Amino acid sequence: MALVGQHVLSIDQFKRAQLESLLEVGAMVEPIAQRKMRCNVLSGAVMANLFFEASTRTRLSFHTAFARLGGSVSDTTGFTFSSISKGESLRDTARVIAGYADAIVMRHPDIGSVAEFARGILVPIINAGDGAGEHPTQALLDYYTIYKEFSRLGKKIDGMSIAMVGDLKHGRTIHSLCKLLQCFENIRFHLVCPDNLRLPKVLIERLKQAGHRVYEYDNLQQGLAGADVIYATRIQKERFANPQEADMSYGESLRIHRDSVARYGEKEVVIMHPLPRDSREGAFDLSEDLDELSQLAIFRQADNGVTMRMALFACVLGVENQLTRYLTPNRLFVPTRYSEYDAPFYRFDE
Ligand code: NCD
Repeated sequence: MALVGQHVLSIDQFKRAQLESLLEVGAMVEPIAQRKMRCNVLSGAVMANLFFEASTRTRLSFHTAFARLGGSVSDTTGFTFSSISKGESLRDTARVIAGYADAIVMRHPDIGSVAEFARGILVPIINAGDGAGEHPTQALLDYYTIYKEFSRLGKKIDGMSIAMVGDLKHGRTIHSLCKLLQCFENIRFHLVCPDNLRLPKVLIERLKQAGHRVYEYDNLQQGLAGADVIYATRIQKERFANPQEADMSYGESLRIHRDSVARYGEKEVVIMHPLPRDSREGAFDLSEDLDELSQLAIFRQADNGVTMRMALFACVLGVENQLTRYLTPNRLFVPTRYSEYDAPFYRFDE
């Protein structure tokens, strides 16, 4: 695949055929992510995992993905323990780390910072979130999740309807997912949010120009109607100039809970969220009363992060065609599912 040696900075760089090939590599590495098989194709390789902004799943899933392919990981978190706090430029840090690692993953609070870091560096760098900008690997795992959930339901991404709910202005996962879905055909986007958190106009225009239909709503009743997927997001309080505005932005009326799905949603609607969901009182994020619904895909979605990041590492390091040679059965204990509440694993082709 043409991804070998490439930086992954924006989802814009992927064409539909490439997305579909990545999905196939994802299906190939999934038994490794699910611990049925072991693989050491990246034995001896080192990944530098640089997180200058809060993260649990993204940082750990990148780490897990690299390690499950046999590589090792060097981590740094926050600015405090980094030389950036001594005034070092991103450019200098990048050049130094390029001398140590085979691949670099970076999250940073500023839009464009990962691209700046990558400028002139020849070791592949993957954007794990640059402020309110983009989160391309989240979009890849969201795509894989929709594909897998739909294959169970006999649905296709072309022609689907997706309700995006929450902070559409600052949510980088939303921005990247819109750009990814733009490659497909005839999608109906229901954008559901308060007026001050609307999706940037430039993204709405791009979707329309690509032939998709975009509808904006300020209520769940219209927003959820007919949707095949609900993609809920957290209010990104840390990105507001005035954090009090964040608290006042959203209310119970836009909170998705079991009752609103039952009243306004389709019976088989797939419910997604990039996580973390804000479970604090008054946060109005995706309600926990949805947890027993089988169509709540949020934890399967997080699991898929390891799979798709493995697929991406295999492709940017040029070993996607060698995976089978480095596979061995896993001899360790492996549960058949991750928690008592999960359904047993299924593959998207089952
Ligand atoms: C998201 C992020 O960091 O943009 N989380 C994630 O990576 N899964 C969403 C969020 O923080 O709300």
